[in-house]
Amino acid sequence: MGGSINIRPAPVPDGLPKNIPAHVAIIMDGNGRWAKSRGLPRLAGHHAGVENLRRVIEGCVEDGVQVLTIYAFSTENWERPQEEINGLMSILEDVIDRELDELHRNGVQLRHIGRLEGLSPLLQKKVVQAMELTRDNRKLILNIAFNYGGRDELVRAIQNMIHAGVAAETVDEALIEKYLYTAGIPDPDLVVRTSGEQRGSNFLIWQSAYSEWYFPPVYWPDFDKEELRRALWEYSSRDRRFGGIHTGREDYRA
Ligand code: FPP
Repeated sequence: MGGSINIRPAPVPDGLPKNIPAHVAIIMDGNGRWAKSRGLPRLAGHHAGVENLRRVIEGCVEDGVQVLTIYAFSTENWERPQEEINGLMSILEDVIDRELDELHRNGVQLRHIGRLEGLSPLLQKKVVQAMELTRDNRKLILNIAFNYGGRDELVRAIQNMIHAGVAAETVDEALIEKYLYTAGIPDPDLVVRTSGEQRGSNFLIWQSAYSEWYFPPVYWPDFDKEELRRALWEYSSRDRRFGGIHTGREDYRA
């Protein structure tokens, strides 16, 4: 384990647990601290973060995760220095320019969640083209939350419902879900926030109502395939009750 957080972890068991989460969502935190601990600029941390993302995507495919949602840029990240904002925008552009073919070959379906209209016209075009190219891929759905905020998502959903003339009496949870960016995608089973911080930070606030949360004490660039396995084992040890009581079944939705 790298970074400056000095905790000796327990060994990760061999192999895979039985119940793999269908949907894993990750708050990729700690890039800045990872860079600082090495005397590097913050953007170097974000670049290391992208490299790590490749490994984690690969790990998700190998381990049978079906949906991976990553928090890459929040609606609050506009408060960061302009240089860092520009850097994060060009990272998204680079990911599309350089990685799209390989992601497509490997069966990854790319989706964007968040306010697309806040991005430059060129970036918007690239994101839309990437989504169109990969729309039939089924190996892994990769949701990139970019210019995303959970409260903003709900505001947009309510506005769209009103625009569509939805009658108040017909509003229920299932209808609201249809108006979210994640419509049609199962809620995250597991939400991971790296770096030891223990907050949700406006990420998937509706969808994570019954998610299991996991806060590994490693910075995002160090959250490698072994750490992903550790997260999967941790998840498998949780007793999910969804507000009810333990039924003894492994899949409570079955
Ligand atoms: C949080 O760490 C990280 C971010 C705000 C950006 C995450 C982005 C990447 C890993 C790049 C991948 C991006 C795409 C588009 C696929 P932080 O900067 O808040 O770290 P700190 O808390 O240590 O300062």
